[in-house]
Amino acid sequence: MASPTAPAHSAAHARALTEIWSGLRRSQKELPAKFFYDHRGSELFERITELPDYYPTRCERYILATWMPELIASFGPGTIVELGAGSGEKTRILLRALETLPGRRAYVPIDVSQEFLHRAARQLAVEFGRLDVIPVMGDLGHGWTLPEGLPQPRLIIFLGGTVGNFDTDEAVALLRRIAVSLQPDDRYLMGIDLRKNPAVIEAAYNDAEGVTAEFNNNMLRALNGAYGTTFDLEAFEHRAFYDSAKHRIEMHLVCRRPHRVTVPHHGTVEVEAGESIRTEISCKYDEDSVAALFEAAGLRVVEFRTDPSGRFGVVEGAPIG
Ligand code: AVJ
Repeated sequence: MASPTAPAHSAAHARALTEIWSGLRRSQKELPAKFFYDHRGSELFERITELPDYYPTRCERYILATWMPELIASFGPGTIVELGAGSGEKTRILLRALETLPGRRAYVPIDVSQEFLHRAARQLAVEFGRLDVIPVMGDLGHGWTLPEGLPQPRLIIFLGGTVGNFDTDEAVALLRRIAVSLQPDDRYLMGIDLRKNPAVIEAAYNDAEGVTAEFNNNMLRALNGAYGTTFDLEAFEHRAFYDSAKHRIEMHLVCRRPHRVTVPHHGTVEVEAGESIRTEISCKYDEDSVAALFEAAGLRVVEFRTDPSGRFGVVEGAPIG
């Protein structure tokens, strides 16, 4: 039986180090956004979702609260599969509706963080005694395997606008992986942050309290802790801006002074003063661009809804059949 703490030399650990190394070797240095979410990073993200400037969580919760009771009652999913198990109260909106349906119903959260996944799954299993809660470890960028024999049909959900962390090619690849796994009766539900006045978007990533800056900087702490990199946390500052041509937020950590970072088993990387490491992209969509994304992946849009302010959208899809 493996110990619950990550073994220091697992394949996943080695793969993460390679991702860190290859990201830092690019001309625009970058680190994958999934590394934000260590324990402290997950807590900081929870705080972000409550900030007045950070509208996506509230807007999506509104859409789900007004749509899901109806959608789940009429669609009657046997299983809800959630990509990324981090959405707390929003997940509960779906599970409360699922729980009212008769017969066997299952909830399958998929997440990279073993610790987070099992804690969340245990909690939900207690809260929703009628549901089978079956956690699955998986990295959205690399694929996952669903257990056999899940009650049909299945509703795959991907909330929060996290698809925005993937560029177009990666998002198509991810959605294609989902599309091919769907039976004709299954459905896919995805949250997307919508294009709008850049000032509104930028404010959401540059909050007055500096929580986002702390969240951004914490990635370096998380990497130092889990992978033994030697980032100097004091050397970097938060920067987030909207790229109107690419319709996306970019978050960077800008280096204040020349800095050398060691990546265990790989080597060292020089970061110059003024040079930045990109830690996240967050792509924004509209009805047409999400329809194009779906189509490229083999999905069709069944329904698209926004919150009353039009800032956030949730799209229901089905396999093209
Ligand atoms: C969880 C990826 C949807 O892109 O808005 C929040 C993460 N980054 N503030 C987003 C995030 C900075 C968030 N997602």
